[in-house]
Amino acid sequence: MSGLIEPHGGKLVTRVLEGEVRDEALKKARKIKKIVLSDREVSDLELIAIGGFSPIEGFMTKDDYHSTMDTMSLRNGLPWTIPVTLSATKEEAGNLKENTDIALVDGKNTILGILHLEEVYSHDKEKEALEVYGTKEDAHPGVKKVYEMGEMLLGGKVSVVKRPEHDDFKEYRLDPKDTRGLFKEKGWKRVVGFQTRNPIHRAHEYIQKCALEVVDGLMIHPLVGETKEDDIPAPIRMRCYETLIENYYPKDRVCLVVFPAAMRYAGPREAVFHALIRKNYGCTHFIVGRDHAGVGKYYGTFDAHYIFDEFDPAAIGITPLFFDYTFYCKKCSGMASYKSCPHDSSEHITLSGTKVREMLKGGNTPPPEFSRPEVAGILAEAMKQR
Ligand code: ADX
Repeated sequence: MSGLIEPHGGKLVTRVLEGEVRDEALKKARKIKKIVLSDREVSDLELIAIGGFSPIEGFMTKDDYHSTMDTMSLRNGLPWTIPVTLSATKEEAGNLKENTDIALVDGKNTILGILHLEEVYSHDKEKEALEVYGTKEDAHPGVKKVYEMGEMLLGGKVSVVKRPEHDDFKEYRLDPKDTRGLFKEKGWKRVVGFQTRNPIHRAHEYIQKCALEVVDGLMIHPLVGETKEDDIPAPIRMRCYETLIENYYPKDRVCLVVFPAAMRYAGPREAVFHALIRKNYGCTHFIVGRDHAGVGKYYGTFDAHYIFDEFDPAAIGITPLFFDYTFYCKKCSGMASYKSCPHDSSEHITLSGTKVREMLKGGNTPPPEFSRPEVAGILAEAMKQR
């Protein structure tokens, strides 16, 4: 891995068992008590196993959970902003013993791995809501998820015997070790990562290309795990990306890779989390635009920039590239931002996600200044079929 940025904590974690060890573990898992994971927990398990969440090796124990909430760092002092937890009901937890192994199964009862249970402790939901999401309101989709989880948390390292199965985006599913290999092969020393959960519009394209002007490569990394109901589904978003790359991107400087995580909508804290994970994938830079990972009016437009000031940049390791609000300006005849455009906002073409959805539902496509026609076409078609 020489020449590439170090993973968070210095070592890329792998918790996937192979060969005989794996067969033995699977045999054992069939005989022991089990816990059924939610979709988000399955995503988290996969990201732990492949090192996306390095240095985390399992679901958090109590010290790390509270330390993450109280100090935005793990107990060992490394920056970390989002709890990675596994919950259980009181009844389920009552049946489990600390220092034993528990089988982890998905909703279809497939054994995915083993939790080496170290600790059973209380899920401090209100504290988590307030500290991580900044609100106790269950109208916030991330907070709602926390409230829906069990009363207890199960902490301990995990060992995965079977990766969650995905029959979609197969060619785009690269693990951190694979993207690191790819960057090395391509000779990219400076790579910028781009997180996204929305269909690509021209502001996204603009900030990606601005970043690409100063680095060697761009990894577009759309999140394809659980999102909220009204977000555009991942297959449609991926089609938009494929079209855009085909028609508007330099293919030798861009890679499209799916990010198998669940969305938390935790705004600023999730921006730091997203950056650290992209460091594990081998990125040296990470784009943070306006209201990154935000939802509704819960966060200030640039809170996700300011939060980075609370950390030692060396401890974060990856360099955030901050972008102001970007748009198409009619007077400039091009994309710009409040940082670079002197004109009145009446000259700017901006559309909220809600507005775009309304337009599409009404059979209208967003204007070419907002969305490339190829992308608008895919979105309009998808909306018709729904
Ligand atoms: S997010 O929840 O994944 O952040 P989205 O896919 O919309 O949502 O955004 C991806 C990235 O683009 C984020 O860093 C976000 O801040 C940035 N971004 C989106 N729209 C704009 C815009 N108009 N101006 C500047 N940055 C933007």
